[in-house]
Formats: sequence, C-alpha cells, structure tokens
Amino acid sequence: SSHKILIKGGTVVNAHHKVVADVYIEDGVIVSVRSNIRVADDVKVIDATGKYVMPGGIDPHTHLEMEFMGTVTIDDFFTGQAAALAGGTTMHIDFVIPINGNLSAGFESYMNKAKKSAMDYGFHMAITKWDDRVSKEMEVMVNENGINSFKFFMAYKGSLMISDELLLEGLKKCKSLGAIAMVHAENGDAVAEGQKRMIELGITGPEGHALSRPPVLEGEATARAIRLANFVNTPLYVVHVMSVDAMEEIAKARKAGQRVIGEPVVSGLILDDSWLWHTDFTTASKYVMSPPIRKSGHDKALQAALSTGVLQLVGTDHCTFNSTQKAFGSEDFRKIPNGVNGIEERMHLVWNRMVESGQMSVTDFVRVTSTECAKIFNIYPQKGAILEGSDADIIILNPNASFKVATASHHSRTDTNVYEGMTGKGKVEVTISQGRVVWEDGKLKVTPGSGRYIRMPPFGYRFDGIEKADAAYLASLNAPVRRTKATA
Ligand code: URP
Ligand code: ZN
Ligand code: ZN
Ligand code: ZN
Repeated sequence: SSHKILIKGGTVVNAHHKVVADVYIEDGVIVSVRSNIRVADDVKVIDATGKYVMPGGIDPHTHLEMEFMGTVTIDDFFTGQAAALAGGTTMHIDFVIPINGNLSAGFESYMNKAKKSAMDYGFHMAITKWDDRVSKEMEVMVNENGINSFKFFMAYKGSLMISDELLLEGLKKCKSLGAIAMVHAENGDAVAEGQKRMIELGITGPEGHALSRPPVLEGEATARAIRLANFVNTPLYVVHVMSVDAMEEIAKARKAGQRVIGEPVVSGLILDDSWLWHTDFTTASKYVMSPPIRKSGHDKALQAALSTGVLQLVGTDHCTFNSTQKAFGSEDFRKIPNGVNGIEERMHLVWNRMVESGQMSVTDFVRVTSTECAKIFNIYPQKGAILEGSDADIIILNPNASFKVATASHHSRTDTNVYEGMTGKGKVEVTISQGRVVWEDGKLKVTPGSGRYIRMPPFGYRFDGIEKADAAYLASLNAPVRRTKATA
C-alpha cells in the first residue's frame, strides 16, 4: 500500500557519504537504508538503478502570500509548495512579517495562510521595529512557537528598514535566546539617495533599479552587520548574497573565525543584470529584485564561493508577482514589486550549474540544497538526511534525463519565469514528501492541508560556552576581564 515504499538500487546520497543501497519507508519515516532489502507484495517498489536518491531540497528563503510593496505575492502556501514539490523541494522556510510590529499577530496570520500547505514548512520572523513588547514577543516565538531565526532588513527605507541601534538590540536578543540573526544587507539610506539620483537623471525604467543600488551598498551593509555581530559575539546569517563585494566580506570574516553564514540565491548564481536593460518593460521588470541581480562576473564568483565553502547553502527568495503587478512600476522603477521565482527551478538549476558542470560533487549538492539548511536551523537529522529515523522527504534524480523551464508547464501561479527556456541534464523524476509519492511520471499529486509545521528549536550555545567566548573576546581586546561566577 502507499504508505510503504521501497526505493531499490539507487545511489543514496547524504552530505557526508554516498553508497548504492535500498531505502525502505513506512508511515512517513525512513525505516531502513541497506542493500538487498526484501519486502512483502503490498509495498510499492520504485526502481532507482542508475539514479541518485537524495534528501528532498529545503529552501531556506521564500515569501509565499506575502503583503509587500502594495500588493501580495501571487504564490500562496499551496501553489508555491506544489511548484516546490514538482522541482524536488520538500520543505521551505518562509518569513513571517509582523503586523504593525506585532509578532504574535503576524505569526497567527502566517499559521492561517499555511493551513493549505501540501508539504512541511517552517518560519523565520522579520523584526521591523523595537520596543519592550517586541523583545518579549521574541521570547515567545523562540520558546513556544518554534522559531529560531529573525531577519533584520537594512534596506526598504520607510517600510521594513531598521536602524543600527535596532539591529544591535536584535543581535543581543538573538544571542540571549539562542536564535540566529539574519540580515538583508543593503544600505537603505544610500539606496534612497541612489533612487532619487536616477529619477533626477530621468532614468525611470527597470535599469534604474540596478543603477540605484550598486554592489558597494551591499558590501557596506554586509560588512557593517558582520562587525556588529562580531561586537555582540553572536552568529550572523546573510540572506541573498548577490555580489562579490558582500561575498568577500563573508569570506574575510569566516577566515578570521567568525560565525557568519552566507546564502546565495539561484538568481544571483545563474543570471546577470543584462535583462534589466531589455526595452520591453514586461521582460525587464520580472528581473527586479533586491539586492539587484548583478553584472556578469558576480554570478561566476558566487558559484566559485559556493563550491569552495565560502558560502554554505542556496535559497531562492521565491517572491513572485505576475506581470500586471510588476506593471505598477511601468512609469517608475521604484514601484515595481521586488522579487523573482525559483522554488520549482532551484534543484535543477543548481544541479546543472554546479554538479553537471563539474564544479561540485554530488554529496556537496546535497549539503548546499538540504543538509546545511537543516543543520543551521537545528532540524537535522529529522530533515536533510537519508538515515534511519529521518523523515521520508526524498527525491530521485536521473542524471541522464533533461529538464526544461517553461512558464507554460511550470506549477507556480505566475505568468512569467526568469529562467524561461533554460535546459540541462539532471531531472527530478520522483518526489516523496512525508513518505508519499507526490511527483512521478510528470504528474503532481498534492493535498492541501497535508503539510506540517516544523518547529525549529533554539541553539544550545546559549547554555554553555558563551560566557567563555565573551571572556576570550574581551581578553583579545586587552580589556580587563572582571571575574564573575560564570568565568571564575
Ligand atoms: O526582492 C526581494 N528580495 N523581495 C523579497 C523581499 C526580500 O528582501 O527578501
Ligand atoms: Zn498499507
Ligand atoms: Zn531581503
Ligand atoms: Zn527574501
């Protein structure tokens, strides 16, 4: 019956190891991984000979049904997840946006939106203002609601942007809770200045978006956030790393031993900004996202950084608007809703660009698309692994079959696709989510309401080591370290 599945003869790939073996699944859980598993007749058998059996993708960065820039992203928790499953992603982590700075109201609203979920999901939460209530509500989010990460926007002046003062408060709070701080790193004041400059020059089209917020503003904010996290002595996660400028700041900090995580997104790894100069507005505007897609060269440098471990995991920032929504900005690029698609394409495009091209091993592919995310957000090995006892979120990828991206056949609700027409080798032929086959023979069998909320527990470092680390940090500054109970 359908809740028992045997995957036979494939190469089972984990981030640490790959081996030819069978995988037996029962009731949503991986029961056994070894060779020559024998099963009764009622078990569904899938032949994976010559194919890779890998943990389903985990997308660390999505925006489903998000209110943003005067509208709402067009993919909701059902359509976005259907697209994800068709592309081999079996879990995503979305960003709760508080309602007027109210975290609990935001959380409730997102839990409601997510009721139509067809796969497992988790949440980060954005922090958009600061007062005692926000500080207290962060404790509730971590200790009761299963959130262990908070995003701070250093851009979007006038809406989501926060000050350095708030960022410092947030970093301290994250540290005390064992939560991870995430930043959207662009200098929002300078972006506003750059936008004003473009409008004054009469540049109102989508190219103005790229010209108004160059890589130097991403590099500056990335460096600032890294240094503030160093000062507070807490880990930092930089979302959507789009430029060499930002990547090099992360590389430098990591080399010095600081705990900084860098997340490139598919658009930054694969695309360049030439599209933004396309004379057809509908075409150009679909590439508008922030930070902007950069000039050719940044993409290849980000690929290299991913393959060498300078950057750790790949997201999508899936944040889709259809062409009528993008047209809000047809007279003024500042009004084009920011965001691109990618939740369905991520696994194929990363496989093709990194593994098929020879830049990355199959095990590293699993690491950057699944395992690392599970580890960072503290849900490994329930997620991100094919191990006995792990959730049965599994894909079968045929390295000899081909994929093709096309709006006509994609599962997202959007009427465009920034990867339109891209083809390559390596195709997800089967997706198993919670132990059920949801994608097979090009057909999707998804059920709204079947997805589960995955709680992400805080990190242990808040309990031990942190005082010692702080003492060592103060000592490194040659500051007198006062003897307290904790350090004596
Ligand atoms: O353009 C983007 N990235 N839209 C989504 C919101 C964000 O900044 O992640
Ligand atoms: Zn059965
Ligand atoms: Zn962002
Ligand atoms: Zn985003």
